[in-house]
Amino acid sequence: MEPNIFDKFISQKTLFKNKENLRHNFRPHHLPHRQEEIEKISYNLWEALKGHIPSNMTLYGVTGAGKTAVTDYVCHHLKAKGATMGRKVEAIMVNCRQIDTQYRVLSHIGNSLLEDHERDEIPFTGWPTDRVFKELVRRMDRRGGVFVIVLDEIDHLVRKAGDDLLYNLTSMNSSLNEARACVIGISNDLKFTDFLDPRVRSRLGQLDVLFKPYDAEQLQDILRQRAKNGLNENVLETGVIELCAALAAQEHGDARCALDLLRISAEKAEQIGDKTVDQSHVRIAQSQIESDQITPVIATLPSQQKLVLAAVIINERNGLRNVQTGQVFDIYQQACKHIRQNPLTQRRISGLISNLDMLGLVTARTVSKGRYGRSKEINSSIPTNINPEEIMTSAEEEMGVVFNAHYHHQTAL
Ligand SMILES: Nc1ncnc2c1ncn2[C@@H]1O[C@H](COP(=O)(O)OP(=O)(O)OP(=O)(O)O)[C@@H](O)[C@H]1O
Ligand SMILES: [Mg+2]
Repeated sequence: MEPNIFDKFISQKTLFKNKENLRHNFRPHHLPHRQEEIEKISYNLWEALKGHIPSNMTLYGVTGAGKTAVTDYVCHHLKAKGATMGRKVEAIMVNCRQIDTQYRVLSHIGNSLLEDHERDEIPFTGWPTDRVFKELVRRMDRRGGVFVIVLDEIDHLVRKAGDDLLYNLTSMNSSLNEARACVIGISNDLKFTDFLDPRVRSRLGQLDVLFKPYDAEQLQDILRQRAKNGLNENVLETGVIELCAALAAQEHGDARCALDLLRISAEKAEQIGDKTVDQSHVRIAQSQIESDQITPVIATLPSQQKLVLAAVIINERNGLRNVQTGQVFDIYQQACKHIRQNPLTQRRISGLISNLDMLGLVTARTVSKGRYGRSKEINSSIPTNINPEEIMTSAEEEMGVVFNAHYHHQTAL
């Protein structure tokens, strides 16, 4: 029989008991360190099981703080309790990063209320929005009961499409006869309510729940609990959980990042054929994650930004660190000449350097030079395991010319 490239995996011993447990979208039975938030949200939604309207809520917190996981968990329990108590409660979660217009959110909710045998879907586009809204109200009334509408990552939709959707959904109870609705908005941007009409803000903000970032010890508990069912016993060497948690705690306490580190570390160990996961695998995983994040950022920089970044790197290649804007500009001008492009002014370059700083690719620190005034000290901040020359050159061939050319270096003042 012809050998198959997958054969080797079949005989390989796996380190995972169930890898799904370590993925983002898995719903754990227990969410450590989120008892208080679960309590607050479920206390409010308990009203729905009594047939009353719960308060609208806004949930805030940094990315990876467990907002989606907690809401999903509470909604799951709410629906289960509703079914056993014979109460009509429905919870509908919409991710507004994926479904990002008022029309699509309304039609998505409306279509999720169709029974299996029903076919009359609201079309993707084409209807006036108020018709979609009326149809949604009609379907909700036909079902009756209390609807909890969760708009996850709502800041995206508001920034893109304004707050009409929130206005309509938070005033829905005046159109409903048989049904009742409450809205939960989830955002990782604390300031997103600044964009809202004051009426919408006060209706949505009846009850706020703030999710604090996890600290390293809390992340350890989360990882231990997820690893218990995700990984085989005794495959984690001491210090692995602690290191993953410490690295993720530096990244503003992001549980998603901690989970990724742990899962990818175990994958790396398994690929190499190691029987256990140790701290060296975590380091490998960390640099892979970093590279996966930074590579597309560098590759998709506009050409002028690439040239400025190249100028910083070319200075550094020649031992010049803490360079000033003038030195970057100088190399940039020479680079433009090498590829026959018209250079932008030094003022514009200064702006592009600030952009690169915002993207985390360089650091531009303003330092005081006493009576010579203030100037910037510019350094690349791309991790050493990433090769920006290679990334830029494969994205734009001309960058190869830039990196291979000869440069005259100015000395610092
Ligand atoms: N207390 C916890 N216990 C177990 N797993 C958790 C806990 N908190 C978060 N997680 C897990 O971490 C990951 C990120 O959490 P979640 O998606 O809820 O973050 P979020 O606050 O919604 O972030 P974002 O603002 O980026 O949407 C998920 O896989 C989730 O299951
Ligand atoms: Mg989320």
